[in-house]
Amino acid sequence: MEKLTIEGGGALKGEINVSGMKNSALPIIFATILLKGDSVIKNIPLVSDVLNSLEILREMGAKITVLDSHSVLINTDNISSEIKAHALISKMRASSYLMGTMLARFGHAELPMPGGCNFGVRPIEQHLKGFSLLGAVCNEENDFVLISTKNPLKSTKITLDKISVGATINIVLASLFIEGVTVIENVAVEPHVDDLIHFLNSAGAKIIRYGRRIFCEGVKQLHGVEYEIYPDMIEALTYLTYVGATGGEIVLKNTNTAHLSYVLDIFSKMGADVGITEREVKFRAYRALDGANVTTAPYPLFPTDLHPQFASLLCFSKNGGIIKEGIFPTRFAYVGELQKMGACMKQGNGYIEVLPSKLHSATVNATDLRAGAALICAALATHGVSTINNVNYIVRGYEDLTNKISSLGGKIKLLKGEQ
Ligand code: EPU
Repeated sequence: MEKLTIEGGGALKGEINVSGMKNSALPIIFATILLKGDSVIKNIPLVSDVLNSLEILREMGAKITVLDSHSVLINTDNISSEIKAHALISKMRASSYLMGTMLARFGHAELPMPGGCNFGVRPIEQHLKGFSLLGAVCNEENDFVLISTKNPLKSTKITLDKISVGATINIVLASLFIEGVTVIENVAVEPHVDDLIHFLNSAGAKIIRYGRRIFCEGVKQLHGVEYEIYPDMIEALTYLTYVGATGGEIVLKNTNTAHLSYVLDIFSKMGADVGITEREVKFRAYRALDGANVTTAPYPLFPTDLHPQFASLLCFSKNGGIIKEGIFPTRFAYVGELQKMGACMKQGNGYIEVLPSKLHSATVNATDLRAGAALICAALATHGVSTINNVNYIVRGYEDLTNKISSLGGKIKLLKGEQ
């Protein structure tokens, strides 16, 4: 198993290019199932979840050609209606997008229950509610989801009972070829939802989002496109927690600052010096930042995917803070690992109180992707050499992590195997 060693205590300084957004690359890759002809997807982040998605398509018979380090040509004209790669599918939440795409293209989908990061039950009843309202029959049997329709799906109005990125995306995908206008209400408005809509519209779809309502007018077919994925907001914000915790400065290049603005305001209030242009953030934190209280919630509010990293940052702040988790009530597996490093944290029902702490180096385990990113933050800001196990979680979502951190002056090494 790979592990990271980090010799912390030094300020990070420098600049990095933000990679393409994992959480939009994944639905866009699966959405190519609905396009005829070649598509070229650019700014693809080379992270394991993306590589696994491409492998799932390849095993279904798609033609995948790597054009350069971040561009891939995908052609799904001859894919099979049978989904293979069951083991990969059960590892990844985003494989749930095969439900909407296969239903739209073949009228049926049969796949293992999608897996995903390890922070509690992740139901899909909102996805299935949407498919059912469109006229499909949905069943769950022996850890498989079976969705099918004998008749053409029918456009209708679907109101989600709770805001869900995955259900929003899946219902849009299922609706693309339905005659008439499908209306989806109470939708997620994360930048990755808009990125997918932008991609589909470039391929000939007719989708409009007004606030939390999406109108999808069915079209006969979609054509191949050349499309560039938006920059990854969570990667960008993660690096700001690293620089905030170690007390340094960074220029984030190739980012979309509009997507970051809610959290950048919080960093400014905590005392960081934040300058933005449309595509760049200049961020400086030359003294310990003040604390902050935050509650995670759907975009445009504080992202759950920054919760663990922000908790690490608060350990190094002047007065700590409270994080309430409003999306995934059990996303606290990282707490025990940070406590192994001496973090003072008190966990309550759905929240964590973080006190300013003097951390020490330790051997810790990443329990999921963002938990792993949080441990990196703590290790970078703590004197001594820390070891982080289970790197496989972290490489699901952070491209070129060790090189990016090294380029900022961080002392990080990836050890392969049993070293
Ligand atoms: N939910 C339901 N029923 C459903 C669907 C969702 O109860 O049918 C609940 C979930 O359990 C959760 C909330 O609704 O409490 C929101 O879940 P959502 O469906 O929005 O999450 P997701 O689509 O499964 C995506 C990202 C996650 C990110 C969340 C929230 C992908 C592949 N995953 O998951 O990303 O945390 O949205 O923004 O896009 C990550 O990148 O580390 C990650 C976990």
